Amino acid sequence: MTNKQLQKLLKDMSLDEKIGQLTQLAGSMYGSDAIVTGLLDMFSINDKALEMSGSVLSVIGAEAIKKLQDENMAKQPHHIPQIFMYDVINGYQTIYPVPLGQGATFNPDTVEKLAHMSAVESAAAGIHVTFSPMVDLVRDARWGRVMESTGEDPYLNGLLGAAMVKGYQGDDVKAKGNVAACVKHFAGYGGAEAGRDYDNVELSERTLREDYLAAYEACIKAGAKLVMTSFNTLNRVPSTGNKWLMKKVLREEMGFDGVLISDYGAVKEMINHGYSRDEKQAAEQSMKAGLDMEMMSTAYISHLKELVDEGTISMDMIDEAVMRLLVLKNDLGLFENPYKDGDPKEEKKLILCKKHRELARKAAAESFVLLKNEDNILPLADAKGASVAFIGPYADEKQIHGSWSFPNDYNTFVSVKEGILGNVTTAKTTFKQGCYRLDHNKKLKDGSMFEVNETKKEKMLNDAIAAAKKAKTVVMCLGEHFMQTGEATSRTDLNVSPEQIELLRKVREVNPNIVTLVFAGRPLEMDVIDELSKAVIYCWFPGTEGGNAVADVLYGKCEPGGRLPMSFSHKAEQLPNYYSRFRSGRPNNGTLDQGFVMGYIDQADLFKYPFGYGMGYSSFEYSNVTLDKSSITRKDTITATVTIKNTGDRVSTETVQLYIQDLFGNVVRPRRLLKGIKKVTLKPGKKTKVSFEITDDMLKFWDIDMNYASEDGDFRVYIGPDSLTENCAYFNLHQ
Ligand code: NOJ
Repeated sequence: MTNKQLQKLLKDMSLDEKIGQLTQLAGSMYGSDAIVTGLLDMFSINDKALEMSGSVLSVIGAEAIKKLQDENMAKQPHHIPQIFMYDVINGYQTIYPVPLGQGATFNPDTVEKLAHMSAVESAAAGIHVTFSPMVDLVRDARWGRVMESTGEDPYLNGLLGAAMVKGYQGDDVKAKGNVAACVKHFAGYGGAEAGRDYDNVELSERTLREDYLAAYEACIKAGAKLVMTSFNTLNRVPSTGNKWLMKKVLREEMGFDGVLISDYGAVKEMINHGYSRDEKQAAEQSMKAGLDMEMMSTAYISHLKELVDEGTISMDMIDEAVMRLLVLKNDLGLFENPYKDGDPKEEKKLILCKKHRELARKAAAESFVLLKNEDNILPLADAKGASVAFIGPYADEKQIHGSWSFPNDYNTFVSVKEGILGNVTTAKTTFKQGCYRLDHNKKLKDGSMFEVNETKKEKMLNDAIAAAKKAKTVVMCLGEHFMQTGEATSRTDLNVSPEQIELLRKVREVNPNIVTLVFAGRPLEMDVIDELSKAVIYCWFPGTEGGNAVADVLYGKCEPGGRLPMSFSHKAEQLPNYYSRFRSGRPNNGTLDQGFVMGYIDQADLFKYPFGYGMGYSSFEYSNVTLDKSSITRKDTITATVTIKNTGDRVSTETVQLYIQDLFGNVVRPRRLLKGIKKVTLKPGKKTKVSFEITDDMLKFWDIDMNYASEDGDFRVYIGPDSLTENCAYFNLHQ
């Protein structure tokens, strides 16, 4: 439609119709067989509202969506198509690594390809909008939703979030195989106090802008069509009713002109926050704050008309919001083709096709982080005489995806056992569960309890120990339950279950050659696992092709390619913790023999593994950093260079990282900040130069007067393999 036609349509619409457009309801309310992603009993709704609503949540499948689209369009006075939205977070049916695992790839190309793959699959299944990327910065692994974010760093989150937007939307969202992206959760949701989901977020404006908002902005610059508000209160105001946040920051400063949708029930939840007296006030506050669409509560549909009639809300305000919805529908081409790419035949053909599986397999290996490899125990040899016992609850488990994956069929998943049996031809392998993933009666996210069969427990353990005794090497397959990750899964205890640790200890008593694989959606406590294992690979939740990727990496078909997108602390008690912290007046040298210094008297170093850390199967040597200039003005750029050499005996890829530290500032500056990433693949013995351009933009920060600007002074440029590198050079910035 042309803009003129859209204007005409808007003019023709009744107020009821307009308000309907601003409401999104769950597919299950239409009697559809929909996925449920939140509480359903928050309100009751009448048929009229269902017919008028502008969008449906979580119905999947081309046929089901077509049916509902036809029925609802027929009932609407202007036959306006509904938008079908869904949480396609890490793949539709071909599930790939959870976002935190994607963060570990440090690779925007891979992340873009994955997003495109899930767009292609979900678009064929009738979906128009995905609720992704989530770019909430997170520094506290107790928060269950760490799994859904790409980590703790504003630059990395922005880079990968923007890559996802491009992957989903392509150049033209209307084109075949594309869906619209919804950036979430605006804003600061990852800063929940003590990692408690849905709790308050208290951030200074400087921290909010510099650390938390940067990634949302990168996604908006990449053209994201929608933004979702967050559940939390931000500095005492619920995001969903926060006028400053939405009108000033998001619309005016960031220039976002797409659809702003609430999170699930978040408008009504402003009453629980004690910010709105009742639903009517919640509707007024949200509308005035700039919220276009309400997801899964009915404050708009029940009260906007009354608010317009009494003059509290203007018709212009309503029209503006409705127009954004119409424009989105038009951008998606829904007025011409309300099903977009939804097509049962295509859906069948594309879902889990060979190309998608191959990409998921490659990406999983690229996300695995090798944390330790004593005696070069890895890669394992697929050779005669080699025997490996795979032990642990993940040795043959198909639930190797994070939350927000809704596989239609678990048979499509490749467990570790299946991956090994399908790829390892000569070595002798055995598989033993050893123990359950969790204790009896452990609470899962949906409130259900994990159950175990007590009589089986002892036998499982004995079988595992017998297998460990006989094998040359043991691969322990441990981890969290996937239902301990995602929304509403904050944890105070960040260990794998006590049973799994006990199993590991018992196995260690009979066989010291242990490689441990950890499946998890967050950084867990790793001291004990590290101590008892010769090698450790962090596999996150790898998805459909996880077992094949494990086989590829363990047996050296490819390297584990990941680097940590979050710092790992020794203990949950150290959280929040992150590499870009500020310098203390009482620095700590990482030992316990100093008094009166920043830190703890019972924990020497800050990190178990630093941000950016990870190994391949080779080793690299870095030369000193050189700069082509040591003094610049704001118009100049500096080229910073290192030479890296592959000093091992395998082809290997190094993730070269650039960090910059502003040595003195009119506000205290972080210890360093990631500003560049380059992936370099080298043959054994070969070396190459790696360069980064440093521009004034990379030096800017929110200064003492809240201007975003760089300050004259001295800077340190680090280039190395992780955030603790000391390989650096200096330059000066002046007028
Ligand atoms: C609530 C979650 O916070 C959000 O991330 C998700 O997209 C919506 N529910 C819809 O399922």
